[in-house]
Amino acid sequence: MCGIVGGVAERSITNILIEGLKRLEYRGYDSAGLALVDHGQILRERRVGKVANLEQAVNESAIIGSIGIAHTRWATHGKPTENNAHPHISGRVAVVHNGIIENYQELKDDLEALGYNFTSQTDTEVVAHLVHEALKSTPDLLKAVEQVVPQLKGAYALGIIDTNHPDELIAVREGSPLVIGVGIGENFISSDQLALLPVTNRFIYLEEGDIARLTRETIDVYVNGQKVARPVKELDATISNATKGEFKHYMLKEIYEQPEAIQQTISQALNGNALRPDFLKDAEIDFSNIKQVQIIACGTSYHAGMIGKYWFEQLADLPCHVEIASEYRYRSPVIVGDTLYVCISQSGETADTLAALRDTKKRAAAKNLNITTMTICNVATSSMVRETDYHLLTLAGPEIGVASTKAFTTQLAALMLLILKIGQIKQNIDENQIAEITADMWHTPKVILDTLQNDTEILRLSELFVEKQHCLFLGRGTEFPIALEGALKLKEISYIHAEGYAAGELKHGPLALVDNDMPVVILAPNDEMLDKLKSNMEEVQARGGELFVFADEDSGIKNKDRQHVVHVPNVSSWLAPIVYSVPVQLLSYHVAVLRGTDVDQPRNLAKSVTVE
Ligand code: AGP
Repeated sequence: MCGIVGGVAERSITNILIEGLKRLEYRGYDSAGLALVDHGQILRERRVGKVANLEQAVNESAIIGSIGIAHTRWATHGKPTENNAHPHISGRVAVVHNGIIENYQELKDDLEALGYNFTSQTDTEVVAHLVHEALKSTPDLLKAVEQVVPQLKGAYALGIIDTNHPDELIAVREGSPLVIGVGIGENFISSDQLALLPVTNRFIYLEEGDIARLTRETIDVYVNGQKVARPVKELDATISNATKGEFKHYMLKEIYEQPEAIQQTISQALNGNALRPDFLKDAEIDFSNIKQVQIIACGTSYHAGMIGKYWFEQLADLPCHVEIASEYRYRSPVIVGDTLYVCISQSGETADTLAALRDTKKRAAAKNLNITTMTICNVATSSMVRETDYHLLTLAGPEIGVASTKAFTTQLAALMLLILKIGQIKQNIDENQIAEITADMWHTPKVILDTLQNDTEILRLSELFVEKQHCLFLGRGTEFPIALEGALKLKEISYIHAEGYAAGELKHGPLALVDNDMPVVILAPNDEMLDKLKSNMEEVQARGGELFVFADEDSGIKNKDRQHVVHVPNVSSWLAPIVYSVPVQLLSYHVAVLRGTDVDQPRNLAKSVTVE
């Protein structure tokens, strides 16, 4: 997804902008650019491809400036070309933009009628021309931007500079994340605070509808022309710990960070083998009133939600529905009072999940329905955390690899904590069972460490996937969502077509795909579904399919011709989905590395999907 960095300082900020863009590379992009104001002129460089290409161009042209904006673009309107890369310029004005201007075509028609020439196919260029046009009727850059914003439809964030205001940077947040980095005698903007960590750890989180004017010494935020106060927050230093270290890829590092990430996540809620009395204390009254749960999420977070459904119903005796946010938000679902709406999101900024949340709140308010909203999220400062009644943080630390790994397993840990809490409040789960499950949860980091010992064996098996075109993942119960997640992991980073199925569905269609060339990954913990799963394995083998089985040591499943078994430590069935996630992550990772793909930034994908 696109990224914005900008700043106004006394020193030249060229290197700060380039470093900021590099820190946003994980989000996925296809071109990059920057613009600086120097001696009344806009100096701009743009390049297709990696930020390194832009850096080389900037070094060659040796452009410097103490105010500027920079951008990584992920193409939405128009191909990834140099002309379409940001910043876009209209005379004295330069603009970078994240998000989408939905009504850009009609604005473009009007601007062309006024004589403006367009040099790109982007929606962004209209903003540059509109600000340029508005500056004909006011000398004030902020006022010009305030005139333009009401004309724009869509969700977006903007950074704007003007050669006639060489000490002013304007920032707009309207549906797309934007933070201000507060420095000493210098100030910055970015779509992700991670980009600004080398220059500050103090941030102002803009709210929807905010327009900010930054100079070296001042930051003023306005809503509808009125100045508003926004707090400056200091960020925990540990978040800056986002380097690959000894690992070849962020994804591998993040897979190996799971024991610690889970430990962190559960530590906030557990005291010995009991829930801490203060854990989600504020929510107790609301939780005691809820009659059902609706989970809304996308992608991997949706898979976590699917497991939450099994757990909510089995453990807390609460009906639970789970739905993909992009469907939920558009199908006018019935909003039911006394429902707990849970958004699950690594980033807390995913456009569909956020829109579903906002729409649900609006419709509940219109009908005067009492609902409770909650986010399970990895980013404490995200929009979702700010816009829900309660939140439970996954303390996984920054996840940089596009493929979600530690965010997923910590989401599962957080869901379990939430379910235990709600089950306890509603007295649907007794203290003994809580003690049993929490004891298992404390044990999970160690079990994951043991599971990681299989890495070399999984690497060896991954060689058998390199030439394959297709792959099936099968599981039952809570391993069904892990099958879906395994297939998502494999397809997104290795580009092998993979599908996950509930093993019981095999005979209803996918069995037709099985032949000698079809690897089938089986998730086989030693639970009450194991015998049924073994029958499914027979069905696959009878059709020539090659089995790759992740199985409990006690499952009795052994290596044989065209059946490869990797033993996963014994684990309680509640925690099996967390533990079985690890071998499928490792498998996908190794297959992708062997196929030579860009593991951390797979093609066409972005880390945080902040546009539809
Ligand atoms: C999977 O590996 C992806 N990163 C993707 O499916 C992701 O889970 C989805 O885009 C939702 O993101 P979120 O958790 O930040 O809301």
